[in-house]
Amino acid sequence: MRKITRRTALGLLGGLAAGGAGLAWANNVIPPLTWLSPKTGQPLLALNTIPLPRFSDGPTKIELKATLGMVDVAGTKANLYSYNQTIPGPLLRLREGEPVQLRFNNATQMHTNLHFHGLHISPEIDDPFRHGHPGEILAYNFTVPKGQAGTYWYHPHSHGEVASQLFSGLAGPIVIEGPLDRLPELAAAEEHVLVLKDLSVAGEDVAPYGIFEAGGKKGNWVMVNGAVQPVLTAKKATLRLRLLNACTFRYFRLSLEGATMHLIATDDGFIEKPVALKELVLSPGERAEVMIQLDRPGNFRLLDNSDLLMTIAAPAQPQPTDLPAKLATIETLDPASAKVTRQIVLTRSGNDFKINGQTFLMSRIDFKANLGDLEIWEVENQHSQDHSFHLHTFPFQVLSQNGTAPAYRAWKDTIAIAPRTKVRLAVPLRDFTGLTVFHCHLAEHEDHGMMGTLEVI
Ligand code: C2O
Ligand code: CU
Ligand code: CU
Repeated sequence: MRKITRRTALGLLGGLAAGGAGLAWANNVIPPLTWLSPKTGQPLLALNTIPLPRFSDGPTKIELKATLGMVDVAGTKANLYSYNQTIPGPLLRLREGEPVQLRFNNATQMHTNLHFHGLHISPEIDDPFRHGHPGEILAYNFTVPKGQAGTYWYHPHSHGEVASQLFSGLAGPIVIEGPLDRLPELAAAEEHVLVLKDLSVAGEDVAPYGIFEAGGKKGNWVMVNGAVQPVLTAKKATLRLRLLNACTFRYFRLSLEGATMHLIATDDGFIEKPVALKELVLSPGERAEVMIQLDRPGNFRLLDNSDLLMTIAAPAQPQPTDLPAKLATIETLDPASAKVTRQIVLTRSGNDFKINGQTFLMSRIDFKANLGDLEIWEVENQHSQDHSFHLHTFPFQVLSQNGTAPAYRAWKDTIAIAPRTKVRLAVPLRDFTGLTVFHCHLAEHEDHGMMGTLEVI
């Protein structure tokens, strides 16, 4: 941690042109005596992976503990909420079909719980309404869904507190491995999980929400795996990057200078074949996997808009390997067989963020649905700002965005909806009954009411 003391602060002031304001400051109050500044250009950190004890005769056991305390972040230290004292939280690398017993220890003074974002598991287990009291231990026992190999994440879901808890650092990635990962072209690539997350620190603590941040807060440290503008030194020339936007409110518009990104997976697993992209937009909560081929030595810059997000240093004599020609087979959902069409309208009035004119009420069931039905959800953003629509439990396919069909089929659970646009989703309600939720994944909006309930019977 680098501290700026009163003395060095005065020195800094002296070094600048010391005007009247500077003198008044020096004579009077020197605001916070400690500022933290992130270090840039450090090596990309591989994520802490929870070593999973795998017994042939029993479930895989995982321990997660939420605490508030000093953690290493961006080359300095800050007093943050975290899982297992790392920012981001540890990577859970799971396998399709494996039984998991997860013990979550809430060692904080607040209410918090866990949500397994994107996992097709029962809402009775992945229950967003569960209350984890301070000091309580919650058990989450489930089987990793088959056919869902991909990149997911876990984060809190205590309504009203999600944004502040997530912003502070409570988020971690999940990777589910499946048979397709053994495709030779995928196995030959160098894989990295990249958690994109912003943060602001005031003094040693997370910057609190200001009164003008109810509609969304962006942090001024934009981090990849807890580091600002890190350097990934690649050993191989073909990379597979698993990207997660774990911000509450910040979008990313990613591009790789001088190279093409090849999309291979979206939120809920592989697409059918690689799709070349110039840029990739990730709204909060979304994931994507891309492959890149470094065809020359030297540095490649991964940009967010025009800002440097991360540097990728290619090997000295790069020899990129091939991309897979064929990935998953994604079923076609026939909208004509849909039993129900629902309208979902997103609006804002003041600091109330609404779905169909109402803010969230836990005791109200907004949609009642039947297990096994295919439904069409028409989600319309009538507001002048962005929203990002997320449904728990049931992955969906996008049928159209403002009337235009997408260029490729994909399973999604979170979809950016630009101002004054409409998306049509095909939602198959398979395997699980129970009460689940849908909401805007701009976490501040969710906390301020942009959430609804779905009961499947
Ligand atoms: Cu990541 Cu209810 O969401
Ligand atoms: Cu979710
Ligand atoms: Cu929103």
